[in-house]
Amino acid sequence: MDIYVDSANLTEIRQAKELGLADGVTTNPTLIAKERGEFTEILKDICKEISGPVHAEVLSLDSDGIVREGRELAKISDNIVIKIPMIKDGLKAVRVLKSEGIDTNVTLIFSAGQAILAAKAGATYVCPFLGRLDDISHDGLDLLGVIRSILVNNPDLETRIIAASIRTPNHVVELSTMGVDILTVPSKVLSQLEKHPLTDIGIEAFAKDAEKFK
Ligand code: G3P
Repeated sequence: MDIYVDSANLTEIRQAKELGLADGVTTNPTLIAKERGEFTEILKDICKEISGPVHAEVLSLDSDGIVREGRELAKISDNIVIKIPMIKDGLKAVRVLKSEGIDTNVTLIFSAGQAILAAKAGATYVCPFLGRLDDISHDGLDLLGVIRSILVNNPDLETRIIAASIRTPNHVVELSTMGVDILTVPSKVLSQLEKHPLTDIGIEAFAKDAEKFK
């Protein structure tokens, strides 16, 4: 199981890397817009920090534009993966970029049918959004389970799942239990995973008792 950092913030990425929690990085236009600097420069800096896949999203919505942008972004570094929205033109672009040896991630997946189409188009990764489904009272984890079954039962579909829009530590635990390939996790959730009140109480008690030996 790989854990990626869902962030374009270098400090957050470095902190996760120090803990072995940065097998890759996913960005999107919203995450990059939160940072200072130019779009491509921000991606370049992330690629200098991370040797695993760094996912960079195209802004175009037509297949020619997506292919053009994808080729440009791929020049930034060997580890760039092109993130493409789940639309018909996006699927067309996936096929072209795949034929050129460029890895793609079809993002904004909200149904199993969309995941099948993306996998058939040749996407290297499919990216279902968990939290946003939960937001509208659908079961995001349920969708992840269905997509995983589809890919496990059809090994000819050589696509890996990246679970995104992860909002809680429980999402991380449930996805790990299911055996989902990759979890992209915001740094806030990584911090929440680390914390437990009983750990804090235990540390405090040990420190107090250790006073006797000083
Ligand atoms: O990687 C996609 C992710 O950043 C979306 O998360 O919380 O905006 O739904 P969220």
